Formats: sequence, C-alpha cells, structure tokens
Amino acid sequence: MVKKKKRKTTRDRWSSHWIFLFAAIGSAVGIGNVWRFPYLAGKYGGGAFLIPYLIVLFLLGIPILILEYALGRRMQRGAVGAFGKINSKLKGVGVNAVFVGFIVCAYYSVVMAWSLIYFLHSFRVSWAPNPKEFFFTNVLEISSNIRFLDGINWIIFAALIAVWVLIYFCVWKGTKSVGKVVMITMPLPVLLIIVMAIRGITLPGSLEGILFYLTPNFRALFDIQVWNAAISQIFFTLSIAFGIMIAYASFNAEMQIKKDAWIIAVINSAISLIAGFAVFATLGFMAARQGLPVSEIAAAGPSLAFIAFPQALSLMPFAALFSLIFFITLISLAIDSAFSLVESVSTVFSDKFKKLSKPWIAAGVCFVGFLTGIIFTTRAGMYFLDLVDHFVTNYGLVLVGVAECVVIGWFYGAPRLRRYINRDADWKLGKWWDFSIKYLCPAVLLYLVIAQFVVDVTENYGGYPDWAIWIGWLVVLAPIAVSVVISLWPGKR
Ligand code: TRP
Repeated sequence: MVKKKKRKTTRDRWSSHWIFLFAAIGSAVGIGNVWRFPYLAGKYGGGAFLIPYLIVLFLLGIPILILEYALGRRMQRGAVGAFGKINSKLKGVGVNAVFVGFIVCAYYSVVMAWSLIYFLHSFRVSWAPNPKEFFFTNVLEISSNIRFLDGINWIIFAALIAVWVLIYFCVWKGTKSVGKVVMITMPLPVLLIIVMAIRGITLPGSLEGILFYLTPNFRALFDIQVWNAAISQIFFTLSIAFGIMIAYASFNAEMQIKKDAWIIAVINSAISLIAGFAVFATLGFMAARQGLPVSEIAAAGPSLAFIAFPQALSLMPFAALFSLIFFITLISLAIDSAFSLVESVSTVFSDKFKKLSKPWIAAGVCFVGFLTGIIFTTRAGMYFLDLVDHFVTNYGLVLVGVAECVVIGWFYGAPRLRRYINRDADWKLGKWWDFSIKYLCPAVLLYLVIAQFVVDVTENYGGYPDWAIWIGWLVVLAPIAVSVVISLWPGKR
C-alpha cells in the first residue's frame, strides 16, 4: 500500500459522484428490502405497517441519514474517527455503531447463504410443489425449537463460506473495486423485482394479497410494536446507525448532502414497496389456492420471502432460468450491503492503524464475520436469527441513533452542521432539521426503546426460553460495554 503523508491525498475517493450514489443505494437496497420489509409488513398486518413505515421514513430516517452524510463528509473519517474528532470520549458512539452493524452482517450473510442454496436448486426449481416445506425441511432442516441446535447444517455452512469469499473479493481494493461492482449489482436486481411484481399481480387471487398489503389499519397506529418494527426497519434499510453511511460519505470530496439523502432514501423505499407488491400478490394467490386467509400465510416471519418468492418463481415462464437470475441477483443485491459494512469496519481500522494494509484488514474482518455467523448455520439457526435480529435492530441500532442525535444536537450543534450542509447546496436544509435532530428524533426513539423494553421484560420475545433472551440482551450490551471501554481508554484519539 502506498501511503503518502498528507491525509487529504491518501484518503480513498469515489471516482465519481455517481459511483457514490450507486454505492450508497447499493448499501441501502439489500435483502432488507426484499426479505425483511415484506416479512415485517406481513407480521404487523400489511397495511397497518405501511403508514408508520412511511411516517418514520420522512420524520426520522431522512434527517438522520442527512446527519450521517454530513458527519462523514465533514470529518473525513469513518464512524469512530468522525465522532472521535468531535471529542475523543465520543468515539464510543462510532464503535457501537460499527459493532452493531457487524452483528447484523453476521446473520445477514446467512440469509445470503440461503439465497445461494436456492440459486443452486434453481436449475430444477426443486421447491416447485411445496415451497414452505422445502424451505424448512430441505434448506434449513430446522430443529423443533431453539433448545435443539441439532448440529451444523453443513450445506448452509459451505454456502456461508462461499458468501464471505464473494464479499471479500468485492472489498479488497476499497473504493476502486466497490465502485465497479455496484454498477451492475444495483440496477439489475431492481429490474427483476419489478418483473416479479408484474407477474405476481397477474396471478389469480393476487388482489386479496394486495388489499391486505395496502389497506390501512388506523388502530395499529396505537401499537408500540408496530412503530418499533417500522423504526428498526428504517434504520436497517437505510443502513443508518451502522457507521456505513458515515464512512461512505467520508470518501466524498464534494457532495450534495440533502439531495443525495433524499434520492437514496426515496429510491430505497420505492424498491421495498415494489418488492412488497411482488410478495403480497403471490401470497394472495397462495392463500386462494389453499383456501386460507392471507393474514395467516403472511405471518410467516423471517421465512416469508423464502416462501413467497420461490412460489412466484415457480409460476414464471422459463421458471428455472428466471429463478437462476433471481437468486443470483438477490445475492448481488445483498453483497453490496454486506461489503459496505466490511468497508466501514475496515475504514475504522485503517484510520487507526495506518500501517496495516487494507486487504489484510478486510480479510480479518471477513473471517471474524464468518465465525460469528456459524451459530446461524446450526439447525436452530433460524430461531437465533430471529432472536438476534429482534434485539440488535430494536435496541442496538435505535440506541446508536439516539446517541448520534444527542451528540450532534446537543454537543456539536445542529445549526453548525446544517450551515456546513448548506454550503454550496442545491437543496437547502431548513431549520426544522435542527429541531428534528435535537428534540424530535431522540425523544421519539428513546420513548420507543423504553416502551419496547417494558414489553421485552414482561414477556419473552417469540416465546423463547430465558437463556435465549439473555443472549439477546448480551448482543445489545456487549457492543455498549466495548464502546464505553474504548471511549474511556486513556490516551490521545
Ligand atoms: N440496508 C441493507 C438492506 O436493507 C441492510 C444492511 C444495512 C446491512 N447495513 C448492513 C446488511 C450491514 C449487512 C451489513 O438489506
């Protein structure tokens, strides 16, 4: 690695602004849009979920996304360095973000591994008669409950290795390789999802599914759980509170912060909404055929996309070919999200240890990511995934969000950052943003975390046993503990 002394010239740069946009959209758009969004929408009652989702997007998601872009761009550092520049005691916020993101990445790559397995089964569309059975019995070989690990499922294990090798080769050259990969991995899957949505809508019975998806339920607005699900999904899908967007923005020499944030957020959610059409139209069809209400099939949880999409695919003309393309693009869709995280973790380390070479850092990050994911490759992996996802997104991500708002709103100064954002900006950011960052976001987020906490201490999430719930809390507390230690560690930043 050639490193020059002046920081300005050594920092990686996107080769153009377009590449940054593609990479940021690539990070945002992922299996989260295709897998997580529809499953939450299904779980929380379709239309009941959409309104909170959209409100949270505009009220909290976009302002915090703007905050992260501005911070990264302003400080020219990854998450840890950026907060450290404000005050070295605040490094912990960045550490926490990256750590939480890392945990997400560990199970996210397992979902990618499932997709890879589906890819291999696409040649014969093996799931055709019974996609649900196929997923649980043939792919997951799922155990009867979380108490029984029943050993590692070696096929998923092998697929996971393959996924991490793929991720590694996407990142090992930093922004150069990322820039090239995203030019393909971003647009192609989007096209396919649109085609799938069209196919879904033309199936008999699809209307029922779509009505379930779109009919609002105003009573659900009083349900804290729905709001929490919406918040966690917005954070997840926009890749905020992972340190990713801070790192990506820091590779920019120039950027239109507000405009870029809007473009990225709107495109990202549009893709989720379209994926929702594909999933729920297909669910309508399945429900009609099995004579069940849509809501029953829709409540499948994290397995939803792996039932609905394969079903839709098996009904496509040239099903095998279509499935092959679909799953390979699903993986490519996910890969830019996953490597954005590896990038963000590596950026933290290479900011800190300037002597280590980037490819080595990336290799280390990928290896540890793989090791962490092994628990999800056991036959009880799906239960752990559900559990860890619940705790990490509802607490980990949201608390990082609160911390970011508090740091900028109360220490750094929201107006100060806004003035920076508005320098040379095409779209000026109004004063409402200061209010949002200083009061609205932290208050709403805190309220929801506390409300969720009350729910989670009174009943065990998902009916899992106590020891499993403790694992959930551990996943929340470990990153916090580590970041507190690092923040308070004596020495210069
Ligand atoms: N935004 C991604 C999606 O919707 C998910 C994501 C965000 C992610 N950050 C990540 C995945 C970090 C892996 C690692 O799919």
